[in-house]
Amino acid sequence: MASTFSISSSVKLSTGYLMPVLGFGVYQNYDARTSCLEAFKAGYRHVDSAQMYRNEAAVGEAVRESGINRSALFITTKCASRSHGYESTLSGVDESLSKLQFDYVDLFLIHDPLSGSEKRLATYKALQECKTAGKIRTVGVSNYNVKHLEEIRNAGYDLPAVNQIELHPFCQQKPIVEYCLKNSIVVQAYCPIIRGKTDHEVFNSIAVKHNHDPAQVLIRWSLQKGFVPLPKSATPSRIHSNAQVFDFELDADDMARIDALDQGKQGAISWNPVDAD
Ligand SMILES: NC(=O)c1ccc[n+]([C@@H]2O[C@H](COP(=O)([O-])OP(=O)(O)OC[C@H]3O[C@@H](n4cnc5c(N)ncnc54)[C@H](OP(=O)(O)O)[C@@H]3O)[C@@H](O)[C@H]2O)c1
Repeated sequence: MASTFSISSSVKLSTGYLMPVLGFGVYQNYDARTSCLEAFKAGYRHVDSAQMYRNEAAVGEAVRESGINRSALFITTKCASRSHGYESTLSGVDESLSKLQFDYVDLFLIHDPLSGSEKRLATYKALQECKTAGKIRTVGVSNYNVKHLEEIRNAGYDLPAVNQIELHPFCQQKPIVEYCLKNSIVVQAYCPIIRGKTDHEVFNSIAVKHNHDPAQVLIRWSLQKGFVPLPKSATPSRIHSNAQVFDFELDADDMARIDALDQGKQGAISWNPVDAD
């Protein structure tokens, strides 16, 4: 990995836009304004919000209060299945923009595939139109399995630029990851630190070896796999430590030991609705 790899590094999306390689998750963060401001101080430039998290307004406030140029930040939001459909997606995008008080969202994701084929495609079409209108820079999906991605392709649309899935050593989602990498879809990893359940002999021993903590080892593993991890914390010290993952490198043996922990779907710890019809 290049020695210039840092928190300022980005990955180029199929839309041509750059996405910072480390994102800051704000699910279940009830003071997202304060946490985002802390995250910006720690160097994060990428925040992962959602309509469902009810904190888009707080994220927007933090962006303005930070004084950082809007163009230097990458902000994501998502629409969940209960609001899927063509018209409701169009109005949902406007609502998100109004809560964020932004002219555009960097990345807009279909939060989950649970609304069924017809609504999924209608939602995708609406988001593509919002992209053409300049309200969204990049359209992506979340919790999409290969069949949901193929459904988009078969309907004649461009594939999404991003798929955000539950992804950590115990749940490596190999078929989805393989499909995405083959099709230039960037994979974002949610629950990258297993919701804090990091007390495992493999993570602990590798952490000691590199003089970092287990959460940092997990985030670093995700980065070295080529994923874009989105660790969440509302704790200032952890917001900072989770970003301090660019001053060490896992070697091939560390990577192999962590790779060997995959339990497939049994290893999931969140809703992981990738098997939706
Ligand atoms: N698309 C989807 O369906 C979906 C689903 C889930 C999540 N996400 C996104 O992905 C983000 C991350 O996922 P997540 O929040 O579910 O899980 P996560 O980031 O793996 O874990 C967050 C939990 O770990 C704790 N934690 C943070 N840093 C830690 C550290 N250094 N050591 C030990 N514990 C630590 C946090 O506690 P404190 O906050 O108290 O520090 C929190 O309880 C979300 O915030 C959201 O943006 C998306």
